Amino acid sequence: MSMKIPFIKSKQQRNPMVSFSDNVPNHVAIIMDGNGRWAEQRGLPRVAGHKEGVKAVMKVVRAANQSKVKILTLYAFSTENWNRPKSEIDFIMKLPKEFLHVYLPELMENNVRVETIGDFDALPAHTQKAVQYAKNKTKDNDGLLLNFALNYGSRYEIMQAIKQIMDDIYGNKVTLDSLNEEMFSKYLYTDGLSDPDLLIRTSGEKRLSNFLLWQLAYSEFWFTDVLWPDMDENIFNEAIQDYQKRKRRYGGI
Ligand code: FPP
Repeated sequence: MSMKIPFIKSKQQRNPMVSFSDNVPNHVAIIMDGNGRWAEQRGLPRVAGHKEGVKAVMKVVRAANQSKVKILTLYAFSTENWNRPKSEIDFIMKLPKEFLHVYLPELMENNVRVETIGDFDALPAHTQKAVQYAKNKTKDNDGLLLNFALNYGSRYEIMQAIKQIMDDIYGNKVTLDSLNEEMFSKYLYTDGLSDPDLLIRTSGEKRLSNFLLWQLAYSEFWFTDVLWPDMDENIFNEAIQDYQKRKRRYGGI
């Protein structure tokens, strides 16, 4: 007797499909926003939103990897986030370790390289240690670059670049005449990375919040009302599909 097997669509079939060959953004940057509101809506402490947000990080990493995005930069902690209550900061600073404890094997399996941008040395020692371990462990992986912006602030980054350039000019390492946009970019944390093609911000807010001000000059922006802990592969793919329809003109016609 033959058994009737119900037709269940695979997860991939249910997802909005991304055409992997066609105009996939090389670099996607994301402002992960709305953790606090997600928690408040459920009567939970704000940190519950951050904890749930960690799962969303991995969902987006998987989706980015699948759609052949090369660089994924996630704004995890800004230089302004130090103004939050100490208990919340302490909680957020433990998340990289928790994330890596659970997912580092999967990142390795998928050839993902972990890196950071931001003032790394000013992070708590335990956070540095966990992240540095992952950076070392994944340094030879040549798949998706998972780039966490940790203690990152764009104005600070630009100020540091200017100071370093002045220093190099006074030290006769470079000349004022040789300074151009390409050279300036080399003084930023993102040296060696192409600029983001697509910026996503969740939670309905529409501002840059001191994120990659130089690097986003010609990026496409995509906003969603979805709160970060509810972010998933489908919503990420929606953003990619929308990007694929856009015409980038870089100031031309
Ligand atoms: C913004 O939401 C979120 C943050 C400042 C923290 C983001 C951190 C994560 C998503 C987890 C990071 C995970 C790893 C692995 C590093 P908000 O708190 O400002 O939300 P609200 O605007 O609703 O208050």
